[in-house]
Amino acid sequence: MDGRDKTFKQKVDDFMKFLWNSEEKKVMGRSGRSWAEIGFFYLIFYACLAGFFAALIAVFYQTIDEKYPKLMGTDSLLKANPGMGYKPKPDIDSTLIRYAKNEPDTYSVFTTELNGFLDMYANQSSHVECNTTELRPNADLPCKVDIAALTQNCSSANKFGFPDGEPCILLKLNKIFDWTPELYDPAALPDSMPQDVKDIYSSENQIWISCEGENPGDSQNMGTPHFFPSQGFSLKFFPYMNQKGYLAPIVFVKFVGVQRNIGLMIECKAWAKNIQHNRLKKEGSVHFELLVD
Ligand SMILES: *[C@@H]1O[C@H](CO)[C@@H](O)[C@H](O)[C@H]1NC(C)=O
Ligand SMILES: *[C@@H]1O[C@H](CO)[C@@H](O)[C@H](O)[C@H]1NC(C)=O
Ligand SMILES: *[C@@H]1O[C@H](CO)[C@@H](O)[C@H](O)[C@H]1NC(C)=O
Repeated sequence: MDGRDKTFKQKVDDFMKFLWNSEEKKVMGRSGRSWAEIGFFYLIFYACLAGFFAALIAVFYQTIDEKYPKLMGTDSLLKANPGMGYKPKPDIDSTLIRYAKNEPDTYSVFTTELNGFLDMYANQSSHVECNTTELRPNADLPCKVDIAALTQNCSSANKFGFPDGEPCILLKLNKIFDWTPELYDPAALPDSMPQDVKDIYSSENQIWISCEGENPGDSQNMGTPHFFPSQGFSLKFFPYMNQKGYLAPIVFVKFVGVQRNIGLMIECKAWAKNIQHNRLKKEGSVHFELLVD
């Protein structure tokens, strides 16, 4: 036996003695009574902790309403100003929609994204027909989206106009619980509203949409935007009250007569008295660049 072996044996003995000390009748340095005390303490401690947690959960559930979100409208951190979005937008870092008219590979990513998005509108089994110019406070069932009117000139079949050099861009207004659009008094339209929207404003009750070039050159070269099913978001989709299967309003804008090989900066805005346009926050308007090669 050498010293190192002895030391090791000594250590094992010490440890065994620590686990069970038969002389002092202690387990891991504590007597039975001490273990009982400490066990009792932790039993009470965790029972109180669990009770406290359960009480908090119970209080939390008491304050939840099945239908109404806790924070809503102007009380919410999200101010009641609807965001606007557009598709296709395959790259989150880029707002450029660029493709070559004669090269399907360059726009297949766009048409795939649009097809995927429209798939979400395919199942309208629980949806009802609604009057497009009427608001629907307290409605239980969501409205049908008129897919035929939406896709009459912008469909999977015509590849959303990309091969014709007349691309269709889908515009959407993000949903806000219990938000109702306020229409402008036709006699008091804001100065910032484009003249062509002012001219037709009274012809329909809806959230009108304008699409303009950011610079005069962009407006000249972007051709004429055509909107499907209508140049605006229908009132029938408001207010959104968490209806099961609710579909947010969407509109296709088709740029007919776009000049090729010129980068265009385009801004589309939604118009209602309670929509503020904030480009940085992507509220009430969208900005994108279009380049058809
Ligand atoms: C459509 O949605 C309803 C409920 O919203 C569901 O019961 C039904 O199975 C769906 N149909 C299809 C074909 O997915
Ligand atoms: C839709 O609602 C408007 C406004 O209430 C009403 O004038 C119009 O007649 C309705 N249209 C249909 C088809 O019911
Ligand atoms: C929409 O499609 C119809 C039928 O193909 C066509 O006559 C019309 O010119 C198209 N409108 C636009 C804006 O593309």
